[in-house]
Amino acid sequence: MTKTIRSQVVLAVVVSLAGAVGFAQSPGEATYKAKCQSCHGATGLADTTAGKALKVKPVTDPDVKNFAEDRMIDATTNGMGKMQPFKGKLTDAQIKDAVAYFRTLIK
Ligand code: HEC
Repeated sequence: MTKTIRSQVVLAVVVSLAGAVGFAQSPGEATYKAKCQSCHGATGLADTTAGKALKVKPVTDPDVKNFAEDRMIDATTNGMGKMQPFKGKLTDAQIKDAVAYFRTLIK
């Protein structure tokens, strides 16, 4: 009896861990980490070597906060300042998802 309960508890923990992993990584998060994080930083603060060198604005900057989502998609697609266009390198959907993830970092 005790043994059955214990294996049910183990099973519940395994299932909830699998669920957490499955939901934590949105498609935008994966793209952001692979393609944007080197300049914009893991938390959007642009506190990386490349981010500092290119003077990327952190998400705490009012200019970034006031940037509308469609303008962000446009900036990422067609480039902005020292940021190269991602058109042709990422699909429209990947850009949209990465921008959506970037926006979750704005505090
Ligand atoms: C080579 C470095 C670099 C990479 C990689 C990069 N960016 Fe940028 N990004 C910049 C620079 C430089 C700017 C313009 C300066 C600024 O305003 O921060 C910028 C501006 C932006 C802006 C306009 C708002 C803002 O923060 O000023 C958005 C949105 C943005 N990037 C999103 C992305 C996304 C999404 C990706 C990944 C698909 C990405 N960037 C990858 C360097 C980069």
